[in-house]
Amino acid sequence: MTTFVLFGGTGDLAKRKIIPALYSAFLNGRLDSKFAFFGAAREALSDDEFRERVAASISSHVQPDSSGSKEQLNALLALTFYSKIDARIDADFVELKKKIPDPGSNSTLFYLATGPDIFVPVVQKLSEHELVGHQARVVLEKPLGRDAQSARDINQALRSYLKENQIYRIDHYLGKEMVQNLLALRFANLFLEPLWNRKWIHDVQISISEQVGVESRGEFFDRTGTLRDMVQNHLLQLLSIVAMEPPVNAAPDSIRDEKVKVLRALHKFTPEEVPKKTVRGQYRAGAVNGEPVIGYQNEPGVPAHSRNETFVAIRAEIDNWRWAGVPFYLRTGKRMASRSAEITVNFKPIPYSIFGASQRNLRSNRLVISLQPEESVELFLKAKEPGEGIRLSDVALNLDFAEVSTSRRVEAYERLLLDAMRGDLTLFVRDDELGAAWDWVDPIMTAWQNDAEGLKSYIAGSWGPAASSYLLAQNGSSWGEEFVES
Ligand code: BG6
Repeated sequence: MTTFVLFGGTGDLAKRKIIPALYSAFLNGRLDSKFAFFGAAREALSDDEFRERVAASISSHVQPDSSGSKEQLNALLALTFYSKIDARIDADFVELKKKIPDPGSNSTLFYLATGPDIFVPVVQKLSEHELVGHQARVVLEKPLGRDAQSARDINQALRSYLKENQIYRIDHYLGKEMVQNLLALRFANLFLEPLWNRKWIHDVQISISEQVGVESRGEFFDRTGTLRDMVQNHLLQLLSIVAMEPPVNAAPDSIRDEKVKVLRALHKFTPEEVPKKTVRGQYRAGAVNGEPVIGYQNEPGVPAHSRNETFVAIRAEIDNWRWAGVPFYLRTGKRMASRSAEITVNFKPIPYSIFGASQRNLRSNRLVISLQPEESVELFLKAKEPGEGIRLSDVALNLDFAEVSTSRRVEAYERLLLDAMRGDLTLFVRDDELGAAWDWVDPIMTAWQNDAEGLKSYIAGSWGPAASSYLLAQNGSSWGEEFVES
């Protein structure tokens, strides 16, 4: 028996991601027969009104080929209920408690898809009304806090009511198929490990580019910015998995112990280093896929003179034996030329070429792990082109997971939801990881606040400000899309 209570049940994230993920889990028989779903939000709605919203969210956000039948939708709606909740009103929690079966047990999962400012008030009320006890689980959406101090304050306050292993801090990038495959690639294969260090690796690039702008979230985004929205969580989580030491086993805390060590080893920038090692930008009007798009400052909800960043590139460094001196370039932005998320590991050049002048200007070996839009691992090698003489070119050993396996792909939110229902914490962020990530981001935020001029602009549909290319050029590198063979 599982009871799933979704705070922020009428919000944007619920509509776009969580309800479609829940429906997919339901269609695939992953929810138990006594499952019940409660939407909870401030609006006063009847069960039927909420059901209409659930049905609308499914019809707009689930692909028609995986949207199931009318009967299946009705079957989920029959398990769907609504409870009006205002975090300040005790009577609302009394009502909720009357509705949910076996309150306080480990069969209840509370998902707080709300702003971090109400995490503590909601959990406090849940606790006072004996809805969480020592067993229920609570999922918290990102961003958790605005900086290191506020994140610590929230975590500390939550710990008055919950044990750490009842708290599931979500970072949906951890639920992506290829992120777990990265663990398999690194720790179930022998050949990479001897090369996976400063001796053989020149640099690592982690890039998440989006074509979308801020969509309907202008107001939220302008308060948040790309550093908090993407870097503090998604990019640093990817970095920690690429750079971590082999864990002693695959238990959640063994993996999280290694990830937190990487985050703690990240070199913290001094105020003088920040402008040299970071680039931030904001998109102006341009075109994406040939379609004209407006600039950030004209987006609904965004103030006309906003200095908020929509693009970030950073040269991060990890101060430990494995990685000292290897740049980890992080880049992410909205309204960029294409949508992709990939990790590129650039190996060092060969020490000497026996092919002399016929060796063209080719990139060194590199391993490219694509998370989206494709899921693939490509190892780029040098090979001789067929024909007379020796002319080398770049060829890829390409592992395309869509071809290798036709098994059903489980979307990140669905996987994480099911993991939380099962009580598996592996793909959730522990409080010390979160703290270490904020500790690294804090000095960057502070330096940026004192340097309003440092914000560059870029044309929507481009790869970001030119300064982002310069950041790599200083070290003889370039972003994947920039390399030109000659
Ligand atoms: C979210 C950010 O966490 O991730 C959004 O808040 C961003 O701004 C989204 O668009 C990107 O996720 P994905 O899975 O589409 O790459």
